[in-house]
Amino acid sequence: MVDGGRLWKRLSELAEIGRQEEGGVARLSFTEEERAAKDLVASYMEEAGLAVREDAAGNLFGRREGRDPEAPAVLVGSHVDSVLNGGDFDGPLGVLGGIEVLQTMDEEGVEMGRPVEVVAFTDEEGARFSLGMIGSRALTGTLLQEDLRHEDRNGVSIEQAMRNAGLDPGKVGEAARPADSLAAYLELHIEQGKVLEGEDLPVGVVTGIAGPVWLRLSFAGEAGHAGTTPMGARRDALAAAAEVVGAIEEEASDTGSTVGTVGQIEAGPGGINIIAGRVDLSLDLRDIDEAVRDRAEGRIRGRAGEVCNRRGIDLSFEELQRLPPAPCSEEIRGAISAACEKEGIRPHPLPSGAGHDGMHVAELCPMGMIFVRSKDGVSHNPKEWSSREDCEAGCKVLYLTVLDLARQR
Ligand code: GLV
Ligand code: MN
Ligand code: MN
Repeated sequence: MVDGGRLWKRLSELAEIGRQEEGGVARLSFTEEERAAKDLVASYMEEAGLAVREDAAGNLFGRREGRDPEAPAVLVGSHVDSVLNGGDFDGPLGVLGGIEVLQTMDEEGVEMGRPVEVVAFTDEEGARFSLGMIGSRALTGTLLQEDLRHEDRNGVSIEQAMRNAGLDPGKVGEAARPADSLAAYLELHIEQGKVLEGEDLPVGVVTGIAGPVWLRLSFAGEAGHAGTTPMGARRDALAAAAEVVGAIEEEASDTGSTVGTVGQIEAGPGGINIIAGRVDLSLDLRDIDEAVRDRAEGRIRGRAGEVCNRRGIDLSFEELQRLPPAPCSEEIRGAISAACEKEGIRPHPLPSGAGHDGMHVAELCPMGMIFVRSKDGVSHNPKEWSSREDCEAGCKVLYLTVLDLARQR
């Protein structure tokens, strides 16, 4: 069976790449840190006896052949990029868990019908360019040249960052995989919520992934003297944005299921004694029910418009990404549930609030996810934690599920 000690050691080693003074990790896409993480992962793939390659989008694959090299492969994996000052487990668990599964098969001489591949996707998080799942979009052939114009905070586009990393942005189309090359996609991931902790279970079976909408709201008012401009004569972009942030919180809360987050706000010109003339803020809105999410978005747009009309502010919206929720495959959910039962774990279904590469890969083949219990539900935070025992339990469930899905049918 899988070697939980080896998995834990690799998780700990990978977590030192991009370690921050604040305690978390930062491995943004196409940076030295992400490169170093992929190099380390490639060395683990080699130790596991896998054939290693990188595609035109920088996705890193390790492949183990089955009896029939022409058969569609089972793909397992996740990502090794992180958010700013993120945790040690979000992404790495699925990549290293996948390698552990394949290395165990090799050591035990297990011969599968289908090939099995493990992947470390490029930029799942979207932390650098406000466009996530770049690698999995490329895999499905839906990463467009215009998407590569998204810029980071320093004005560097994805296109430029790819070139700097030695990739040819004109060739991302070559990363697309034909649908008939994949039989299934499976991702092991930390839950990033508190459901499994509440159920006292190490592992859970994901039912589907909530769909995110990412918007940029730009408020244009008028900069002015903080000491001489009467309160009634201002067009304060930041005061308007503050009202809108409050409206977002109210509208999302009122649905009971939608979550709305303003995680970035930038005010200009940025002086203590200058009224803010310009504000950009981000909005991340998600729900497992697309219609509920979209109605909340409509109300937020309406209320933001009213606030800005009243205050004489010009408001514009830019859509950065919009994805529908992605249900997991019934068949894969069944295989994961059966694997849980073999491990003596009651199969517990739960949705994913976080986004994952499986949302895109599901366009090519059936998709499923296994969640591992998170401590206190904390994630995208240095305190993110899952125990060694729970990671091992999740990896065992992944192993049994891959055995089931990759056996020739
Ligand atoms: C990534 O973790 C996301 O859900 O935004
Ligand atoms: Mn993740
Ligand atoms: Mn994440």
